[in-house]
Amino acid sequence: EKGTYDHYMLKEINDQPAAMRKIIQEYQDEDENLKIDPEIIDQLKDSDRLYVIAAGTSYHAGLIGKEFFEKWAGVPTEVHVASEFVYNTPLLSEKPLFIFISQSGETADSRAVLVEIKKLGHKSLTVTNVPGSTLSREADQTLTLHAGPEIAVASTKAYTAQIAVLSILAQVAARELGKGTEINLMQELAKVTTAITAIIDDAPMIEQIVNEYLETTRNAFFIGRTMDYYVGLEGALKLKEISYIQAEGFAGGELKHGTIALIEENTPVFTLATQDKVNLNIRGNAQEVEARGAKVCMVSMEGLDQEGDTYVIPRVHEMLTPLVSVVVYQFIAYYAALHRGNDVDKPRNLAKSVTVE
Ligand code: F6R
Repeated sequence: EKGTYDHYMLKEINDQPAAMRKIIQEYQDEDENLKIDPEIIDQLKDSDRLYVIAAGTSYHAGLIGKEFFEKWAGVPTEVHVASEFVYNTPLLSEKPLFIFISQSGETADSRAVLVEIKKLGHKSLTVTNVPGSTLSREADQTLTLHAGPEIAVASTKAYTAQIAVLSILAQVAARELGKGTEINLMQELAKVTTAITAIIDDAPMIEQIVNEYLETTRNAFFIGRTMDYYVGLEGALKLKEISYIQAEGFAGGELKHGTIALIEENTPVFTLATQDKVNLNIRGNAQEVEARGAKVCMVSMEGLDQEGDTYVIPRVHEMLTPLVSVVVYQFIAYYAALHRGNDVDKPRNLAKSVTVE
């Protein structure tokens, strides 16, 4: 039930702190250590490469997951769009483990891959919000998102839940593989929860950003580097699917190789700066577009912020910033769609789960 909220999407954005708390609770033991079914960890330890298969927003969560698996667990990871993988299967490693990420667990494109890789005898894990769904039943193992039902077509809390659960999986794998890359993840996720709550409290301020940047525009760009690039892809998808504004995400350094030709006077460019290593680089990219007339909306993180930034998110662990920064983009998409009088929860041409290939 959407209760007092005007839309399911707004409710589901607001559900995120509770979803984070639920995940923290579900994935720890009595001693507050991270807990994942040992069989899943054995499968992961047994494999030489992970193949993450997903579509849309879940694919974007997979891109963040790759960072966790490679940087923490040291396991090479590829992320693939399901509909492409079926017809253009890459050369597989000797011991692949397939990880299907799907809110609904019913996405036909992902299921098509699962059917094929099972024929080849490969192992599979589904990360889903719906235990008992098709992808969950057909894979060897399941990890549950615990985000609660997601009704709005535009995925919000499932994305953050996917990233949180993937971070837990990667940290447990790192621990079991003795990688020495463990962080106090539950404490860091608790900080994330507080930070998300702070952004929810700032929703009226974010609505002002929409007034300033998106009221009349027909297009918008989202740039970032490293993890912020992936969050930009998600921000652009969210905006286009419900506001119908043409929006694209790009790696900050790639703009000058072509896309910068599209920048005109007042083109909005949403820019994320939450990663220390590339903070100066992305700010340089923002200046490049600003010099060509773009209106840059700079979203940075406390500690890396500079005077004049549009919005500053609270400081969280650098690997976990997507969980927080994306909430700003969810609100931007929500208000942009609302101001245009669109049906926020049921955008045109889209269904909640895509059960055809
Ligand atoms: C975007 C969105 C879609 C889904 C995609 C995969 O907001 O909701 O892009 O993420 O259709 O769906 P699932 O995760 O159910 O496999």
